[in-house]
Amino acid sequence: MSLDDASFRRAAGQFASGIVVVTTRGGHAMTVSAFTSVSLDPPLVLFCAEKIARFHDAVLAEGSWAVSILAEDDEKTARWLATRGRPLDGQLEGVAYHPGPATGAPLLDDALAALECRTTAVHDAGDHSIVVGEVEAVTAPPETADRGPLLHYSGAYRRLRSLPRTVTGALTPVTVRDHARPGFSAGRPLRSGPGPSPGRPR
Ligand SMILES: Cc1cc2nc3c(=O)[nH]c(=O)nc-3n(C[C@H](O)[C@H](O)[C@H](O)COP(=O)(O)O)c2cc1C
Repeated sequence: MSLDDASFRRAAGQFASGIVVVTTRGGHAMTVSAFTSVSLDPPLVLFCAEKIARFHDAVLAEGSWAVSILAEDDEKTARWLATRGRPLDGQLEGVAYHPGPATGAPLLDDALAALECRTTAVHDAGDHSIVVGEVEAVTAPPETADRGPLLHYSGAYRRLRSLPRTVTGALTPVTVRDHARPGFSAGRPLRSGPGPSPGRPR
């Protein structure tokens, strides 16, 4: 079966992702959506780096890196650090950051959270490398509830929109009652249509 490039891109683009900036101590920074946590014990994360990106060789040579998870108001930074051919010198000018305590790589002050990592494996994957790192330090601001993450979906930057309260309200009591009442099946589907919900007092 032949696969056309545009269909593959469109299909893959239906998977919504967050946006991070990966940085090295040398001050190189790149916008990345292919990031995920992998393991809790040991704590591992990975990101995919395109082999033709200048960042690819820079991060492999450095051996350590930092990940800043962008907030919804950081789109400008994401666009800038995804611009191919931008000058490498001073690319973080105009972006507030501080050096990470474990790696010295820049952590963006406005990030929702940041992780500092040491490379433990690099896997070849077509035109990308999968870079796995052990997390050595994390920074998570205590209060982030008022700022959501920057997302990327179907070729555009997005923000989270909360589901209507009615949906949350319908699901929460069912979960609570399922656990509270002996013999009450916890595994059956939740009802969302009209009529008495199994979790509400009748
Ligand atoms: C939304 C978005 C997500 C991206 N995700 C990745 C990614 O996961 N891995 C990657 O190698 N490049 C990714 N890129 C492309 C790089 O950010 C871009 O090519 C960058 O300029 C490469 O770094 P360089 O300038 O050091 O070569 C992404 C770009 C955008 C706009």
